[in-house]
Amino acid sequence: MQHNEHTANKTIDEARQGEAIMMPTNEGTSKKLYLESYGCQMNFADSEVVASILSGQGYETTQDSKEADVILLNTCSIRENAEQKVRVRLKDFKKQKNQNPELVVGVLGCMAERLKKNLLEEEKLVDIVAGPDSYRDLPNLIEEVGSGQKAVNVLLSREETYADITPVKLDKGGITSYVSITRGCDNMCSFCVVPFTRGRERSRDPQTIVRECKELFNLGYREVTLLGQNVDSYRFNLSAKGEIKDENLPTTNFAQLLEMVAQVSPDMRVRFSTSHPKDMGDDVLEVIAKYENVCSYIHLPVQSGNTAMLKRMNRGYSREWYMDRIAAIKRIIPNYCISTDIISGFCDETDEEHQDTISLMKEVEFGFAYMYKYSERPKTLAERKFEDNVPDEVKSARLEEIIALQGQHSLKQHQEQVGKTVKVLIEGPSKRSDEQLFGRDDRNSVVIFDRGDLKKGQYVMVHIKDCTSATLFGDVVEVLPPHPIQHIEL
Ligand code: SAH
Ligand code: SF4
Ligand code: F3S
Repeated sequence: MQHNEHTANKTIDEARQGEAIMMPTNEGTSKKLYLESYGCQMNFADSEVVASILSGQGYETTQDSKEADVILLNTCSIRENAEQKVRVRLKDFKKQKNQNPELVVGVLGCMAERLKKNLLEEEKLVDIVAGPDSYRDLPNLIEEVGSGQKAVNVLLSREETYADITPVKLDKGGITSYVSITRGCDNMCSFCVVPFTRGRERSRDPQTIVRECKELFNLGYREVTLLGQNVDSYRFNLSAKGEIKDENLPTTNFAQLLEMVAQVSPDMRVRFSTSHPKDMGDDVLEVIAKYENVCSYIHLPVQSGNTAMLKRMNRGYSREWYMDRIAAIKRIIPNYCISTDIISGFCDETDEEHQDTISLMKEVEFGFAYMYKYSERPKTLAERKFEDNVPDEVKSARLEEIIALQGQHSLKQHQEQVGKTVKVLIEGPSKRSDEQLFGRDDRNSVVIFDRGDLKKGQYVMVHIKDCTSATLFGDVVEVLPPHPIQHIEL
């Protein structure tokens, strides 16, 4: 999934990092919740689950932390600097709590899970520490604090998927939404903290996923992004829920789930993140090719272009395997766009290994990339087995080289779109001018065009006339009629 560090192309998702989010107002209640989210898309989706659980207790969200009764930070541990950001923010709230001792401050998400009750000692002002699988317990935890105690729940679960909770949409009138399909991760990449903060992988009941997508369509949403740390390992049968123990029951895999969601409506676009190179099969690519509304954009993190390095990273594939998956995408999906994640300066990385990453980038020509310097995380395999021995200047120099190359590739791919006409889902006003709107094309590029009489949620054909590495600019040449069915029976 995506993060906001070094990107050649800024996406809308990233603009949301560390953002305060609003929930529809709940007349007649007085308790106010301020919720701030960091990290990956999964955390933003989880915050909507938290808002839903607390709205049942009469909490109304506010965008002004000053008027809050409860402040919750949904945090990320993926790199050291992600945690640093949260610590700075907690210091701001400390001042507020000194003035208002009744204020409840809680830390949710991955930092809560990683640091557990140490967070209470480390950050003296925190009242609640709640891990990613304990959000149903939040009303009790808040009550415990009311009776003068500190409250901690960091139990990880093998079953919790929040499948039955309808997330409260925090962007009223939104067009695009995340929908979680799995939680946790079983992969144990040696650099990664996620298996420790999110626990074992589990898949959500497909019927609840399809239902949520239909509800979103009825609310006016026109795009869903299915979320999981490794969507390709999605696998559900009823015995997984523990209800029926029968190994012969039909199982739903990711390709089948994608097809079920694609059939919700031809006007509902479907994206997904993250694909894992070791598990992404041709069956998924064939569903993308078959359905016009399943976007031909694939985020396929490579991390490194060197096989020995990939082995140290415990990624479960070689450079050749990765290139075979790229060849499959190019063969099966017309007009594909591939993005990736790259880490520079992982343990023992040599210049030759780094050059293999550069040569792989040149072979693939990614449309976008999220690029990071390796940051050692406590408890991970790498922390226990290897030494974080690439000097910081070397990590930075390699990262700069990767970023510069990606910038050229992003620009080149956009230049190839100039002169073409692309289908765009309108998402809202452009950041630069109210007279312009923005949306994204099938390949996930941001497209900007004049507002005219157009509205968000409409599909338009845009003739591309100019570009930067981050954005396409064009003229609307056709407004596509909406699908006759605007309301789906559940
Ligand atoms: N499940 C997704 C990734 C989730 S984390 C996947 O497997 O692709 C998102 C990205 O953060 C990773 O792809 C990786 O590039 C980066 N990342 C994870 N741990 C990191 C670390 N310790 N230091 C630097 N980058 C890291
Ligand atoms: Fe981390 Fe690897 Fe799981 Fe991604 S697949 S979340 S990088 S352990
Ligand atoms: Fe996501 Fe960060 Fe946790 S990337 S899973 S919020 S460590």
